[in-house]
Amino acid sequence: MNTRIITIDGPAGAGKTTISKLLSKKLGCVYVDTGALYRGVAYEIKRQGVIWENDEVLEVFLKNLDLNFLMEKDSLILISSGRDITNFIRTPDISMLASSSSAKPQVRVALLDIQRNIANTKDAVFEGRDMGTVVFPDAAYKFFLFADLSIRAKRRYNEISEESKDIKQVQEEMKIRDGNDSKRKAAPLKPAEDAIKIDSSLLTIEQVVGKMLKCIDKP
Ligand code: DC
Repeated sequence: MNTRIITIDGPAGAGKTTISKLLSKKLGCVYVDTGALYRGVAYEIKRQGVIWENDEVLEVFLKNLDLNFLMEKDSLILISSGRDITNFIRTPDISMLASSSSAKPQVRVALLDIQRNIANTKDAVFEGRDMGTVVFPDAAYKFFLFADLSIRAKRRYNEISEESKDIKQVQEEMKIRDGNDSKRKAAPLKPAEDAIKIDSSLLTIEQVVGKMLKCIDKP
């Protein structure tokens, strides 16, 4: 791999997306949100009514799955069988379904090539849960971003526009997702041994990105 890959892992609400976007902008490289792929899988499971807990059914579903990213200007659009599904994957039920179905090793294997193919051709910042541990163990720089649960829940609560939102429920769902993501056997959420850990609880986005840039050599 001749490209420069930077990985940012961490739990939901730690600030990965905003920080990865800003960091990639400052470095002039691509930003890849790998959670979108797991959300894409969940979206299709829901749309097609797939009994994904059954391994045989899951295998057939994954064989027919046609997910990919399309580069548009400086952002990536998620395409499923030719259809742009980017705007349909950010609902709370898709978040939960992505978290539970992503524990299936078959799902993870099915998404590996998509991620690695991008990395083969472009310098990029990849955000996810297992970027530094499994997908890109040889990444040039690895970061693990975390923050207190109550602070992460508050951030997510402020992002949600629905009137029915309830901060306790947001925090509860986040806790369940943290548990699913970090306790699963396949590629659990955890810092790579050589990851630089940053607690974003009391830092601004600019402060976190500033810390990261200090660790990264100029290309
Ligand atoms: O980053 P996100 O919240 O959009 O991710 C949604 C879910 O997808 C997350 O709860 C776990 C799963 N995921 C994963 O297992 N591995 C990744 N690299 C990214 C996301």
